[in-house]
Amino acid sequence: MTELHHFLTLDGLDRPTLVNLLDRAQQLQVTPGQPLQQNTALAGKTVANLFFEPSTRTRASFELAARRLGANVINLDMANSSTVKGESLLDTLYTLEAMNVDIFVVRHHVTGTQALLARHALPHVHILNAGESHVSHPTQGLLDVLTIRQHKPDFANLSVAIVGDIEHSRVARSAVQALTTLGTQDIRLAGPAEWLSRDLAGRSFTDLDKAIKDADVVMILRIQKERMGKDDIPDEQDYLRRYRLDAERLKRAKPDAIVMHPGPMNREIEITSEVADGSQSVIREQVTNGVAVRMAVLATLAEQ
Ligand code: CP
Repeated sequence: MTELHHFLTLDGLDRPTLVNLLDRAQQLQVTPGQPLQQNTALAGKTVANLFFEPSTRTRASFELAARRLGANVINLDMANSSTVKGESLLDTLYTLEAMNVDIFVVRHHVTGTQALLARHALPHVHILNAGESHVSHPTQGLLDVLTIRQHKPDFANLSVAIVGDIEHSRVARSAVQALTTLGTQDIRLAGPAEWLSRDLAGRSFTDLDKAIKDADVVMILRIQKERMGKDDIPDEQDYLRRYRLDAERLKRAKPDAIVMHPGPMNREIEITSEVADGSQSVIREQVTNGVAVRMAVLATLAEQ
């Protein structure tokens, strides 16, 4: 097992370490409506959330996870922070370290930002990647495979179709890395030809119906308009005609296939509400698992 001091990527993370995080998250999971477990793994620690891109799920779940482990938490409003006045990211790090922040949860649109912070952080400080450009979203990858494992634990024999804007998706990259580590052979990447990234393991499909045929898992992605030039944004009607997952199309997957979406969803664009809210959808379970996974990662880092 790898000793985790920072948590920057799933790329290269060994299987025992990944499985240990999933097992720990499973133990920490609490069904909505049930009483929360008391946990003091982060007592005396301070966590800072630095989100330079919008977020609902990741930011809220990191905050809830840290609080449920007994940490102090600050959420910086990066749009109104001194970075806007020209302060460098490293000076922001040094400033908050001087106030005894121990753990930084960082989302940023520039590739390599979290690794840069990790190289310059004090030895006792931990950096967590909460979304890095189109490259990496490791806690999302963990919560996705935890959700899959709860329904379909035989990863080696799974067929997983990931559908949509693969090229711009950090979610797809981290999911493929986690699935590959867990032994999944049949990973299918489906979407318009220009969005089928060549740097990912998996078979490419431009035909959604072929991609989801007999799939066990269908993971739908949002179109990441914020990472495209204006001219690269597809015609919406054409996109939804070819790639929107609706109930009729879903019949091509296995009858017990699960439907996933990392959120935020654009309902009726990449997925219909009938499917998103239907009996095969595990989208809200993914959200619940997000808190448990982030608790597991935070608690594991704090032990180092
Ligand atoms: N899945 C995800 O990263 O969602 P948020 O952008 O809301 O955090």
